[in-house]
Amino acid sequence: MRITINAHKLPSSGALVVGALKGSKLLDTAKQLDKASKGAIGRAIKASRFDGGKGQWLDILAPAGVGADRVLLGGLGEAKAIKQIDLENFGGTALQRLANCGLKNITMACDAIAGAKAEPAASAACLAYGARLASYRFDKYRTKLKPKDKPSVSAVSVLSQAPAVARRQFKALDAIADGVFMTRDLVSEPANVLYPDSMAQHCKSLSKLGVKVEVLNEARMEKLGMGALLGVGQGSPRESRMVVMRWQGASAKAKPVAFVGKGVTFDTGGISLKPGPGMEMMKWDMGGAGTVIGLMKALAGRKAKVNAIGVVGLVENMPDGKAQRPGDIVTSMSGQTIEILNTDAEGRLVLADALWYTQQRFKPQFMVNLATLTGAMIIALGHENAGLFSNDDKLSRQLFEAGAEVDEGVWRLPLSDAYDKKINCAIADMKNIGGRDAGSITAAQFLQRFVNKVPWAHLDIAGVAWGDQGKPTVPKGGTGWGVRLLDRLVASHYEGGK
Ligand code: BES
Ligand code: MN
Ligand code: ZN
Repeated sequence: MRITINAHKLPSSGALVVGALKGSKLLDTAKQLDKASKGAIGRAIKASRFDGGKGQWLDILAPAGVGADRVLLGGLGEAKAIKQIDLENFGGTALQRLANCGLKNITMACDAIAGAKAEPAASAACLAYGARLASYRFDKYRTKLKPKDKPSVSAVSVLSQAPAVARRQFKALDAIADGVFMTRDLVSEPANVLYPDSMAQHCKSLSKLGVKVEVLNEARMEKLGMGALLGVGQGSPRESRMVVMRWQGASAKAKPVAFVGKGVTFDTGGISLKPGPGMEMMKWDMGGAGTVIGLMKALAGRKAKVNAIGVVGLVENMPDGKAQRPGDIVTSMSGQTIEILNTDAEGRLVLADALWYTQQRFKPQFMVNLATLTGAMIIALGHENAGLFSNDDKLSRQLFEAGAEVDEGVWRLPLSDAYDKKINCAIADMKNIGGRDAGSITAAQFLQRFVNKVPWAHLDIAGVAWGDQGKPTVPKGGTGWGVRLLDRLVASHYEGGK
């Protein structure tokens, strides 16, 4: 879908999206249409329950005296309460409502809103960004789609009072959307197509954007002593991989920020086999890695002034004659030994070596890891927030605030010695499960044993990486959760030498 920003000029056909504030106060373009149609907009409002409230919509077909074939009036609520995220959602919902309406073109008028905080240019960029994020589809395996199942809309034009500035701002947002789309694609791909090596090849595609990409194979990881990660992959005929992505957008001296992802391309549970129903969901057990890759694409795409490292541990967890057994003891790269009591608690084993490797090699300012780590996270927070676990209050606050701004919420849960004790083990340094109680926290305690002094945060994204219900800018399926959050974290606090 082609999304452009243009100077104000009313279209002579297609759908036209206009706005109103609480109390049905029409914004300029809507007012203009009302006049041209001799009051048709006002009459349509009177014939409905629309009153300009946030989230209200009114579809007006073929109003006389107006060029557009269809006018969609959207409510924005109170002017002073409008935030950027509301404008993104407005653009996204408008697109979703019209995508299959039969028309080819959508025009969205971005008018000045007296009393609103956002500048006109930023507002137009947000509308366009929202529409772009909402336009995502994963259709590549549907060979029999009929035209009526496909969107009719092929172009969106956002009308702005400051099109040049808006276009420049949209360019950066568009790069973030490219990252989000890459994550959604990776998460949606099935595990027969996306496996450790093929996923590593996707990472390599980022080199076009100036990202340096290194792929570690099993022999290399063995030399490095990554027994925890390698144990998980040993039951699969697909070789494990670790990929290091480096984006240098600041001076070579500047300490990097680091992002680490769990990339289990399929999680059967291994010998501790999962039950059959729902197992297909475990194709998205690489969601943490998917987000790290999409984030690196976003940062490089918008040329962020930061040095950023992305590390992903890629393995397939399969049951097999060669697979790891319950009771096996493995030695991690850190030297710490782990008794494997459940081969389905594999994500933490992958991250143990990935985190250790990242902090030893890169000495980052901070490390944030993402993982679809525990089913217990979904029990605790549902699909509304990701779990946040951290050894650092400042990083936690920054993540919380960035999450609220982009509507990718995080909620902090505790870490402490009392929980840590639950993974002590009689015959090795630790065991890989801590029992049913506080399952997400004991998993996080396990990760913390592989983190030294560096500020670190673990995001358990089991509940948010996939959505069975769509949202205004997030169609159902792979959400791309975390790309926007972490991009915002970097933009707000770690760019330009701060
Ligand atoms: N990948 C799963 C966690 C998961 C479950 C993510 C459902 C998304 C949806 C993880 O590897 C796992 O199997 N965790 C176990 C841990 C247990 C064995 C301690 C779990 O949550 O049951
Ligand atoms: Mn598992
Ligand atoms: Zn898993």
